[in-house]
Amino acid sequence: MQVKGSYQTELIEDKRIMMEKRRVLTGITTTGIPHLGNYVGAIRPAIEASRDPANESFYFLADLHALIKCHDPKRVDESRRAIAATWLALGLDTDNSVFYRQSDIPEITELTWLLTCVCSKGLMNRAHAYKAVAQENEEEGSSDPDKGVTMGLFSYPVLMAADILMFNATDIPVGRDQIQHIEMARDVAQRFNHIYKGQYFTLPEARVDDEVAVLGGLDGRKMSKSYNNTIPLFETEKKLLKLIRKIKTNSLEPGEPKETEGCTLFQIWQAFATPEQTAEMRKRYEDGIGWGEMKNDLFELVNDHLKEPRARYEELMNDMGYVEEVLRKGADRARAEAAPLMDQLRKAVGFGSFV
Ligand code: TRP
Repeated sequence: MQVKGSYQTELIEDKRIMMEKRRVLTGITTTGIPHLGNYVGAIRPAIEASRDPANESFYFLADLHALIKCHDPKRVDESRRAIAATWLALGLDTDNSVFYRQSDIPEITELTWLLTCVCSKGLMNRAHAYKAVAQENEEEGSSDPDKGVTMGLFSYPVLMAADILMFNATDIPVGRDQIQHIEMARDVAQRFNHIYKGQYFTLPEARVDDEVAVLGGLDGRKMSKSYNNTIPLFETEKKLLKLIRKIKTNSLEPGEPKETEGCTLFQIWQAFATPEQTAEMRKRYEDGIGWGEMKNDLFELVNDHLKEPRARYEELMNDMGYVEEVLRKGADRARAEAAPLMDQLRKAVGFGSFV
């Protein structure tokens, strides 16, 4: 009975995979060096999702997007290297996922143009990223609301739509700030499908994970590059300890009971600890653990997690040959998907062969 039962489960499982494999796709803009917040909020869940046989994962370095914000080639390249090495060091399985650099896929820029030509300007006027800059300009009393706005920034949602639609991705794991862009991708996809009378594109859906931890940074605000309050993921042990010691706390003395709610140290603890370790720490807060002791224990916990991947990261960064090879293979696989669709799209808009 047992054997039969599990055989049936397997069948059901197989069927589920065959019928509704989800194509998960996300891009990482290459302007910074990954920090603990990126790891817990995005990298770790993405690597876990790539291990789920019900998913097909497409993860890429959004280096074309980086040019929107950053004209410093050194910084863009350093970030590309660091992000690629980080994901591999943390165990991204590149057999089970397609991992590539956006700029290695010329079909994406080609598709961007086709989409640009069906995307109304009014839709882009409403994009948050652009509106934020226009509003800042207005608040500063500038006579030009578009001061500092490049066409890259303005039409950035179209490039993002091309990233997604090129691979007919179904599920886009993103933060709340990106939901609008996914809606715009759907909008543009529908316009194209309608104008050129065909089901060329699948409509993607944003997947926002509310369970995923949002870490606080050194100053207690959300850990973010723009607040300059981050703890880089693969700092040396010494620096990691130093930065953890810098995290802001209140002035309660050892022996005084402390709140776990809203405590940055506790939050980070929780993101790395087992549920048992978290329960134990909660108790120690009630018993009045001192901040110094907490910080030392937090360092030990985080460092234990990062020790091995940090060593792998350093190895990869010192010899990028392997990373380059992985990304080239990823680009080949991505292009094998992109090229046939691009052929269809070229024909759809009237660019077929003359003979
Ligand atoms: N714009 C996204 C961000 O800033 C990065 C990104 C680029 C992306 N292309 C994408 C995310 C496609 C999901 C899908 O976070």
